Amino acid sequence: MHDLQGMARSAILNTKEYIPGKPVEAVKRGCGMDRIIKLDTNENPLGPSPLAVEAMIREIREGSHLYPESLCPELVAKLSARFNLSAASFYMGNGADAVITMMGLTFLNPEDEVIFPGLSFPAYDGIAAKMGATRVRIPMRPDFTIDTEAMAGAVTPRTKLVFLCNPNNPTGLMTDKRNSMISMVRIPETA
Ligand SMILES: Cc1ncc(COP(=O)(O)O)c(C=O)c1O
Repeated sequence: MHDLQGMARSAILNTKEYIPGKPVEAVKRGCGMDRIIKLDTNENPLGPSPLAVEAMIREIREGSHLYPESLCPELVAKLSARFNLSAASFYMGNGADAVITMMGLTFLNPEDEVIFPGLSFPAYDGIAAKMGATRVRIPMRPDFTIDTEAMAGAVTPRTKLVFLCNPNNPTGLMTDKRNSMISMVRIPETA
């Protein structure tokens, strides 16, 4: 039998496993209850928007047998008009996790550094670890807000990605652009 574990990249073997919140079915079984309002993974207890459900049903009926337009040019055009940013500023993915992963795959080499807050969404640490990059974890301020000044101060010529989660998960606190150093961050040019 093949030793699949031994064949994996060492960066993958050294990555801490992400343990997601329990699915509602498991919680029901565990508590012996039928009706649960689940809040621990920040899911919407009100359910999806009826408009979103309608749009999904329409799309499944009309388009699910064909490959989609993966770069979503119509959506990108609308977003770039709405936010007055170039189309190149947007990247579409199936959820934020997929976008974070794609950023890591696209940009990170082992000699690069990734800056993120000490208490934040675990995918930032996860993708940096999987790509073998150096993780620069910036401790939170005593009030659990993100220390944006320290993040800005940690930028070096080796910095490739800076993750600022807003509002932050899991603290739920906002970083206000006007009160932070974030708009002043300039990545130094590499030699
Ligand atoms: C900050 C943050 N980023 C990304 C994700 C993952 O989002 P998605 O379900 O869209 O992949 C979550 C999910 O909780 C999150 O809190």
